[in-house]
Amino acid sequence: MITIAMDGPVGAGKSTVADEVAKRLNILHLDTGAMYRAVGLAVVKAGIDMHDEAAVTALCAAGKAHVDVKYVDGAQQTFVNGEDVTPFIRSQEAGTAASCVSRYAAVRRMLVARQQKLAEEQSMLMDGRDIGTVVLPHAKVKIYLTASAEARARRRMLQLQQKGEDADFEEILKEVNARDYQDMNRQVDPLRCAEDATVVDSSEIDFEQTVAAILRIVEEKYVG
Ligand code: DC
Repeated sequence: MITIAMDGPVGAGKSTVADEVAKRLNILHLDTGAMYRAVGLAVVKAGIDMHDEAAVTALCAAGKAHVDVKYVDGAQQTFVNGEDVTPFIRSQEAGTAASCVSRYAAVRRMLVARQQKLAEEQSMLMDGRDIGTVVLPHAKVKIYLTASAEARARRRMLQLQQKGEDADFEEILKEVNARDYQDMNRQVDPLRCAEDATVVDSSEIDFEQTVAAILRIVEEKYVG
């Protein structure tokens, strides 16, 4: 069994890097952000105010924000209350709702338990914000994938420009810094680098070099 925990701030390229590393190792990749996004969507769909922690907690306690994950040809599909929400979780709305509800202890407890169960059953690379610190504290490999706020904002700007959208660097940099602050300063399970994690800084290296650096770390830990 191979278990890899990967954490890091927004825009460090975690999802795409994690996907590629998992593919090369022939193991599953669990994107835990997708699960928070699914809960966010369930809250919106239920007509509940996402800022009302008690109401969101009650929804979870009633089993009405039940998240499940399945794999089809190795690709993650995310379900909430039996409905496949994979096509909808990348929206801005889902991201905003996820960011809000991920602050609540009841939401985190529910999803962390599910994530731990999934990692017990199969080899897996899991990425998120609290994987090395809370979800899989005993993972043999822990990676903290980061990059400077400027490098992350620059990548985001290029992505937007490629889609033909307007992109103002200073504005994006401000958003990146705000998301970092929110993720690192929330009360429950804030983003931080686990003491035993290896930091990979992708500011000055490209996608392929980042993937290679992580594969080297995995090999060192498992092969020695
Ligand atoms: O990585 P992402 O943008 O898809 O994550 C969506 C939100 O969920 C983001 O605000 C951070 C939060 N999140 C979290 O709190 N813990 C995780 N393990 C994964 C994501």
